[in-house]
Amino acid sequence: MKIKTLSAIAAMLVSTPFVAVADEADKDANLVVNGEVELVTRAPAPAHLEGAVDEVISGWLFRTSETQSLQMDDFDNPGMIFVDQAMDDWGTAVGSEGKSCADCHGAVEDSMEGVRAVYPKWNETAGEVRTVAQMINECRTDRMGADALGYTSAAMARMEALISMQSRGMPVNVAIDGPAQETWEWGKELYYTRTGQLQMSCANCHEDNYGNNIRADHLSQGQINGFPVYRLKNAKLTTPHGRFKGCVRDTRAETYGTGSDAFVALELYVASRGNGLSVEGVSVRN
Ligand code: HEC
Ligand code: HEC
Repeated sequence: MKIKTLSAIAAMLVSTPFVAVADEADKDANLVVNGEVELVTRAPAPAHLEGAVDEVISGWLFRTSETQSLQMDDFDNPGMIFVDQAMDDWGTAVGSEGKSCADCHGAVEDSMEGVRAVYPKWNETAGEVRTVAQMINECRTDRMGADALGYTSAAMARMEALISMQSRGMPVNVAIDGPAQETWEWGKELYYTRTGQLQMSCANCHEDNYGNNIRADHLSQGQINGFPVYRLKNAKLTTPHGRFKGCVRDTRAETYGTGSDAFVALELYVASRGNGLSVEGVSVRN
């Protein structure tokens, strides 16, 4: 590790063992939504993480018990209002073809069940790895005659939230082999590449220092099983690329574009680090 990196991290981190903040963030808490849907928030690390971490942990466990509880009941979860809005979008015809999502896909509960858990995923027709957001836009532009939604726009985030809800409780299970392997390897390389003035990689924070405090924030493993997340900070849904952009910016680097090939590869890789954790549908974070 470069000296510069070491001092940059040391300057930001207040080393606090995980246990010391247990009353703030209850690491043994169980995430049960509406008293019935049990979500897996700690799981043995997938094989490809051998030597890096033993266990994968949802960002939910790093939040204060107050924030945690907001995600335990859909009536308290402020993200749910956006899911309702997306339900309206699902049934509304848009574009020159006069079609709604429902016209082709039927009930979202049936057609989108399990989709979020396996994305990003290799798409045979496109010959590349695609995210859920890209599939939504492909349907809009190529099948509905409608404009593409902004990649991290509110309309996109809420549709992703509605689709994620149909996998709530299912284990994240993205494929990293076969035709997706090359993209996955690129994503992995990006994850470990130090960027910006601070010369820090995703791993420097989310692998080497999770559980520690950084600028009054409690560092998690940077998992995306909970995405999209409702952030209390700005009272909006945030998508994975929106979050990546913010984190890269924090290292004072030029960020890759949201929806860029680089961020799609990074999303696949980050998703695969959470294989085995539950899709949370819409999570709540600070
Ligand atoms: C005209 C019919 C049509 C409409 C309207 C349509 N889709 Fe699709 N959609 C498809 C087809 C066909 C596929 C399969 C494409 C493929 O696998 O390459 C698909 C695939 C998808 C997928 C990937 C599903 C999977 O199992 O991998 C998502 C997500 C999706 N659509 C979302 C939407 C949303 C959201 C809307 C409304 C904004 C919408 N679609 C509107 C026909 C449609
Ligand atoms: C300087 C340290 C730092 C670096 C480098 C960094 N992050 Fe973060 N990241 C944070 C902090 C702080 C948070 C908010 C607390 C938390 O959830 O960890 C965060 C949150 C996240 C979250 C949200 C997790 C959740 O459950 O809500 C994701 C995803 C994430 N980061 C991914 C990344 C990726 C991918 C990279 C590399 C491109 C990266 N981060 C680089 C500090 C960093």
